[in-house]
Amino acid sequence: MTLLAIETSCDETSVAVARDGRVLSNLVSSQVKLHAEYGGVVPELAAREHLRNLMPVTEEALAAAGVRTSDLDAIAATQGPGLPNALLVGLKAGQAMAFALRKPFLGINHHEAHLYSPWIGGEPLAADFAAFEPNVSLIVSGGHTMLVHVEGELKHRVLGSTIDDAAGECFDKVAKLIGLPYPGGPEVDRLGGEGNARAFDFPRPLLRDSGDDFSFSGLKTSVRYFLRDHPEVLEDGRKVRDLCASVQAAIVDVLVTKTMRAARRLGVSCVTASGGVTCNRAFRKELAAACGKAGLKLRLAERSLCTDNAGMIAILAERKFAAGVEGTSLDAEIRPGWAVE
Ligand code: KG4
Ligand code: ZN
Repeated sequence: MTLLAIETSCDETSVAVARDGRVLSNLVSSQVKLHAEYGGVVPELAAREHLRNLMPVTEEALAAAGVRTSDLDAIAATQGPGLPNALLVGLKAGQAMAFALRKPFLGINHHEAHLYSPWIGGEPLAADFAAFEPNVSLIVSGGHTMLVHVEGELKHRVLGSTIDDAAGECFDKVAKLIGLPYPGGPEVDRLGGEGNARAFDFPRPLLRDSGDDFSFSGLKTSVRYFLRDHPEVLEDGRKVRDLCASVQAAIVDVLVTKTMRAARRLGVSCVTASGGVTCNRAFRKELAAACGKAGLKLRLAERSLCTDNAGMIAILAERKFAAGVEGTSLDAEIRPGWAVE
């Protein structure tokens, strides 16, 4: 099957072409620079930018894959969750393409696509579901922090999620308090890599709670109070690096500890992680160390597939068609609050 997929749930306009489990092209046009000026994603600007970029990115993705529209067997697009007007652009474009080509269409849940993205890898990128095994999966990005028990392929159950800020949002908000540019996660990663993670002690929210939910807004607030009481820290480069390392350590500690606890409780032999924060070096290192110690396999999403992309949408859509999932109506609406089912 040759399938074209569209992802426009937030601030990346992405189009991918996949054929029989292989990702032939996966183009991402990021709007990071546009939103950096405002210190965060501006939903209306994101939607307008998707409108501008979607057709050129689609043409480029088809050309890079060496595929013509007449070769396509199906179209897929992210239907939710995400920013309403951003989702609207990609979903309606996908439905219009399917209508014009008289091909089936499938609306995809963005979180579900992240969930299975660790099973895409290699060079060239391809699905590796032959290696699939039941796992505990952490989806961790700017918009979501979620622990999921993946009992089988396309069979999963959400264990817990954030009750306030997502982990990536916490990285970004703390970076803003320190005066680092948006998006702050990669900046905190870079500076924190050169700092002392034990220099300052920050709270690990819900670490001792036996449930699988997360909370990060208290950590952000404690950094705000810390900087109010110690403004001199920002004048000293070494202390800023120590601060980044210490905050990062608190976030990573919570993510890794709760993931490992859920994996132990559910008796799985594999842990996976995906989403933008999975790019974080300290997180990758600590989770690998914890899995190594516990004798669990670890599959981290490829760096190019950690942040939002249509490649993961295409592979999941193909998988669903292969499993006999029925297509989505061509007048189905966006689902901005769509929870993983
Ligand atoms: O998955 P993603 O591209 O978009 C969302 O769906 O949110 O994730 C973006 C988030 C941002 O919050 C960004 O700061 C964070 O992922 N991020 C990182 C790193 N790279 C991206 N956070 C920490 N360390 C990184 N290296
Ligand atoms: Zn995402």
